[in-house]
Amino acid sequence: MKGLFITFEGIEGCGKTTQAKLLAEELRIQDYKVLFTREPGGPRISEKIRDLLLNKEFTEMHRLTEIFLYMASRSQHTIEWILPALKKGIIVICDRYYDSTYAYQGAAREISYKDIDFINKIATGGLKPDITFVLDLPVEIGLSRVQKDVDPSKGIDRLESENINFHQKVREGFLELAKSEKERIIVLDGQDKVETIHYKIMSHISQMLKNRFKNKKMR
Ligand code: TMP
Repeated sequence: MKGLFITFEGIEGCGKTTQAKLLAEELRIQDYKVLFTREPGGPRISEKIRDLLLNKEFTEMHRLTEIFLYMASRSQHTIEWILPALKKGIIVICDRYYDSTYAYQGAAREISYKDIDFINKIATGGLKPDITFVLDLPVEIGLSRVQKDVDPSKGIDRLESENINFHQKVREGFLELAKSEKERIIVLDGQDKVETIHYKIMSHISQMLKNRFKNKKMR
């Protein structure tokens, strides 16, 4: 694959969206071609699935329905947007990808990692991010940021409405994943200043860009 696939992960309110956007902006300034996208979401079908998944009226949604909807969104997104972009040499920055499934549906909803491996491989065709940043911080702080930033006309969504114990399991899930894939997953302190985190992310990415795009007119 010619492009670079970068993902951002973490609990609610960890600051990943801010960092993903900052990175996209910075790389565009440096003249790289960037696709900034998110999961669940991206292409229109996946955005429709996102609406279903986050709608807090659907309190009866079973965890199996939930995981298959995340996978449905992911397969459309991967096939329609991510793979074609990577093939063209574009840098894809995705706000969440499959690590969220392991943390939310695996660690928190207790669907086995073996089952997730199986369906995720079908949804992604085996695609893996080149690098993943997990922004880590205590759940109480993340959730209080969510409350503070919530759009009053919408309120918090179905997943944000889960209890603190659920979000604690999600956090532990991300940290466990990071331990098992030290090469790919970088954990950063989500309580650091926005600029400090951005600087650390850039120092990881700069070296990768040099290796991936050296001598190429990709930019
Ligand atoms: P966010 O992108 O605004 O954080 O919202 C997405 C929500 O969906 C968030 O609560 C995490 C959750 N999620 C899962 O539970 N499993 C997944 O596979 C993905 C991508 C997200």
